[in-house]
Amino acid sequence: MSFVIAVDGPAASGKGTVASRLAALYGYEYLDTGLLYRAVGVELLETGQDLDDAAAAEAVARGLHLNRLSDPGLRGGVAGEAASRVAVFEGVRAALLDLQRAFAGREPGVVLDGRDIGTVIAPHAQAKLFVTASPEIRAERRWKQLVGQGEDVAYETVLADIRRRDERDAGRGAAPMVRADDAVLLDTSDLDIEAATDAARRIVEAARARQG
Ligand code: CDP
Repeated sequence: MSFVIAVDGPAASGKGTVASRLAALYGYEYLDTGLLYRAVGVELLETGQDLDDAAAAEAVARGLHLNRLSDPGLRGGVAGEAASRVAVFEGVRAALLDLQRAFAGREPGVVLDGRDIGTVIAPHAQAKLFVTASPEIRAERRWKQLVGQGEDVAYETVLADIRRRDERDAGRGAAPMVRADDAVLLDTSDLDIEAATDAARRIVEAARARQG
């Protein structure tokens, strides 16, 4: 059976960095599931369709392939906002489920990061982390990242976006963002990348030890 590491948490919490580093450390494949929702949102925008059109969003999600995820256009702020709007649709989430479950079965192990990995996609994951940080710190990290990508955006705008997205992701009916009962909370507010990765590794090692 493949060893699944589920990493969930809000925007810019550091979950992506921690997840990709864990994958490199263990030689596992890594899937950033946020990119799936980003790809659906961006394709709707590019084809002139409405982000509130549940049926159109589901149709795009059904046709999505993993090879679409390397597009750097998915990394921007517009894509993140579009992602969280299409992610509220049950049909979109159902359409993306099989693909994520199939990925989770890859040997010898995988790391998936997102909002509902430990709760819905891989409830039997051997190791679960919920990575978080204060909204202000997350906004600062995201602001630096967006400015680094050439986006012209104010810190206050990024903070407001983050708060709105947290609310939408945690408040939706379909697979809301919530810490799984058995997920270990990792607050990265006062941790740099090295320290956060180290803490995450210790959580995974403890889970491995429990499973013998
Ligand atoms: O990096 P950041 O958290 O900004 O974004 P992301 O992880 O790429 O996710 C973008 C949006 O996709 C989130 O705000 C969620 O609404 C949605 N998402 C989700 O619903 N379920 C997932 N497993 C991953 C992302």
